[in-house]
Amino acid sequence: MDPFRQDVLAGKTAFLAGGTSGINLGIAVRLSELGARVIVGGRDADKARRAAEEIGDADHALGLSFDVRDYAAVEESMAVAAAAFGAFDIVVSGAAGNFLAPALGMSANGFRTVVDIDLMGTFNVFRACHAHLNRPGASLIAITAGQAVQAMASQAHVGAAKAGINQLVRVLALEWGPDGVRVNAISPGPIADTEGMRRLTSTPKLQEALTRRIPLQRYGDKREIADAAVFLSTGAARYITGVILDVDGGWQLGAAGD
Ligand code: NAP
Ligand code: COA
Repeated sequence: MDPFRQDVLAGKTAFLAGGTSGINLGIAVRLSELGARVIVGGRDADKARRAAEEIGDADHALGLSFDVRDYAAVEESMAVAAAAFGAFDIVVSGAAGNFLAPALGMSANGFRTVVDIDLMGTFNVFRACHAHLNRPGASLIAITAGQAVQAMASQAHVGAAKAGINQLVRVLALEWGPDGVRVNAISPGPIADTEGMRRLTSTPKLQEALTRRIPLQRYGDKREIADAAVFLSTGAARYITGVILDVDGGWQLGAAGD
């Protein structure tokens, strides 16, 4: 049985930066399924259009193209989105870049690129959306990762960027709480069938080794992250702000099994 009432998000508008594939598209599909109008955006305009078609008809889903590193482009897309579907009740900042490389194997520009997409991108999205929020009541959700708190080799750029996101979320929760804006993050564990996991664990042997380390002994699926985003966007979470919610099968607790 679905844990949520089918119309729990009816009348809500959700804007998802980086919502055109993977985990974030999974969140967009779920928000739409439960009644929200949804705008998804990424760099690739065709991919954004296809994602919107997958989510719903043109009255309920819109795909836009922008780069989260470009503040003016983010602002412009939000103005278009709000004109089409109204002020935002839910904003998800999930655009990210990743590649495996030790610090000595990446240039300063390689490090900066990931910090720009993940951390600067989240600042840009949250800073620009404030003018379009339904206040009080809006729910802002950043998508972070366990690398923010668990040091991981070949992830200096991602660890630094996601740690910055975690603290940005806490500060914005502090500053915007009095306006009735809640700001939280979801920290997914290894999620099956995603670009992120394709980049981090490329062989079945690595996937098995990782699975053994997860207390719940399996990868998560996109819907499990999406349900956490729904929870954070409903009245059930009305007193929750500034929280980094681990949805990771216990991965961050340390190694299970051998
Ligand atoms: P994904 O499918 O590659 O999703 C990334 C999304 O961001 C796409 O929509 C992409 O579209 C967009 N994007 C990338 N760079 C952008 C930019 N500069 N400006 C605007 N949009 C941009 O990746 P995923 O694996 O599902 O990961 C989604 C999120 O979950 C990320 O924040 C990631 O760090 C986090 N996460 C993932 C896992 C996992 O198991 N996969 C675990 C922990 C955390 P375009 O390419 O068209 O721009
Ligand atoms: N190892 C070391 N450095 C790398 C690298 C790798 N595997 N891949 C890219 N870089 C470096 C590049 O060499 C470049 O640095 P340089 O100019 O000093 O040579 C820098 O990173 C920027 O690369 P570029 O390809 O110009 O960046 P981009 O903005 O077009 O793309 C990426 C950003 C690299 C993060 C790209 O992989 C991407 O778009 N990812 C989005 C999807 C994704 O990562 N999904 C998973 C989310 S968890």
